[in-house]
Amino acid sequence: AKGLKGRDFISLKDFTTEEIFYLLDLAAELKAKLKKGEPHPILAGKTLGMIFTKRSTRTRVSFEVGMYQLGGYPLFLTKDDLQLGRGETIADTARVLSRYLDGIMIRTYSHQEVEELAAHATIPVINGLTDFLHPTQALADIMTIREWKGKLKGLNLTFIGDGNNVAHSLMYGGAKVGLNVTIACPSGYEPLPQVVEEARRIAAYNGCQIAVTNNVREAVEGADILYTDVWASMGQEAEAEKRRQAFQKYQLNSELLKLAKPDAMVMHCLPAHRGEEITDEVIDGPQSAVFDEAENRLHAHKAIMAALMG
Ligand code: CP
Ligand code: NVA
Repeated sequence: AKGLKGRDFISLKDFTTEEIFYLLDLAAELKAKLKKGEPHPILAGKTLGMIFTKRSTRTRVSFEVGMYQLGGYPLFLTKDDLQLGRGETIADTARVLSRYLDGIMIRTYSHQEVEELAAHATIPVINGLTDFLHPTQALADIMTIREWKGKLKGLNLTFIGDGNNVAHSLMYGGAKVGLNVTIACPSGYEPLPQVVEEARRIAAYNGCQIAVTNNVREAVEGADILYTDVWASMGQEAEAEKRRQAFQKYQLNSELLKLAKPDAMVMHCLPAHRGEEITDEVIDGPQSAVFDEAENRLHAHKAIMAALMG
């Protein structure tokens, strides 16, 4: 479909605005079909290997169920199930799995490992989260914003917290679709300069802006979307206490929410550490889109698989 067949899905940076909108439209179409009970076996007879070296609820279940709904077959593979866990190389794993499967989804620590897998695989590789990026999340997030707001261009998204994988993908994805993205984070927890620079270049082309600030209150004023994520990501458990201190003023609570536009929507990729980066009142409140957002992972992932593997 539209030049997406056979491609990898590793970063939203690699896709044109048109391609991202194509995926968003396809996701909406597949969502409508599912709600109507209309079968859509676009991937009948196809298989997806899902490699996980980190935990997952949403990504694992939505890719697995999504593959089933598309008529295909998913294989859940933890690192310990594969010879990868005993030192077989990523490259050899990629070569072998390419002989059996029609696609690979991988969630792991090192982004370079995902790129290496993709370089040696002859089938599409989908990035299900690395320490650097979380592109499938950002696609589902953009889908959710479009559903709630009816548009994307010119909206102000403020991400409060760590300049992490989720923040990076929101910057790339937001810049592609015309969102103004502001990252409000404590000093020392900014997104990588390379991502800021690239996202700014993309944003300039699409008539929107990317900003990074330590001033959370200023960043929240006039926001249409408030987004947060955990203060310590998977793999950063040892830093949790230090981070808890550093992020104290960056909690998404009712007081902060009041500074945004009255109709601002609240997002979180989940899992949430309730009482840390977000309060119960906000995540369970009427402005919260977080469970629509979680649901949309399913529809967005199906669109990605259908477009790449169909
Ligand atoms: N948001 C997200 O990726 O959730 P999981 O870690 O449960 O997959
Ligand atoms: N930033 C979080 C996202 C989890 C979906 C992490 O990497 O753990």
